[in-house]
Amino acid sequence: MISASILSADFSRLREEVLSVLDAGAERIHLDIMDGHFVPNLSFGPPVVRSLGRIPAPMDVHLMVENPGSYISPFAELGCEVITVHVEASIHLHRLLTLIREAGCKAGVSLNPATPGETLHPVLPFLDEILVMTVDPGFGGQKLIPEVLEKVSKIREMIDLSGQDIVLEVDGGIKVENIEKVARSGATRFVVGSGIFHTSDYRTTIEKLKENVDNAHGLYI
Ligand code: DX5
Ligand code: ZN
Repeated sequence: MISASILSADFSRLREEVLSVLDAGAERIHLDIMDGHFVPNLSFGPPVVRSLGRIPAPMDVHLMVENPGSYISPFAELGCEVITVHVEASIHLHRLLTLIREAGCKAGVSLNPATPGETLHPVLPFLDEILVMTVDPGFGGQKLIPEVLEKVSKIREMIDLSGQDIVLEVDGGIKVENIEKVARSGATRFVVGSGIFHTSDYRTTIEKLKENVDNAHGLYI
């Protein structure tokens, strides 16, 4: 499944960009929220998401902020389906995940490239999604760190052994050229920003992305 990160979209016509990437075949919209503290960049917050109006796809919020707890209810109120916090920014991870579910959303946790997957083992029953960063978060358009894929495979095993229904998603530097390899590591959901928005024909790009996932999994899901 392809989740389009709007960080690389043309913000002067954001709603149009969102609708056109969905029309071109993306299944979800990924919202990168950055506070200039947890990551060295600022992006946008709830008012910009509100200004998009209703969109015909689920929205996933990726909170790259120092105090993720403050942003759960604003994004839940905007109807976001998944709210993802970074394990590195969450002192009381179990509490945050519980708050996200209590707000009516699915609970996600993201791991920076240098953070081991095992750290999530104790909270697997409280999780709906694991978002593995394949770049250090902060900017769109960075190069995927291939060494992280070994960790993705280990997390796949951990999820399968747990028997829990947890989505494994990857984020950062994913393109038509490398998505097949990424899919082989066991991820089933792919965040793609510049790999779509910096191409001239979104539909052709998304078709190729899905075709390459299909080559790895034998089935596009
Ligand atoms: C990085 C963000 C990503 C990023 C993806 O901090 O979390 O979602 O925007 O963009 P690309 O696909 O360009 O790496
Ligand atoms: Zn992201």
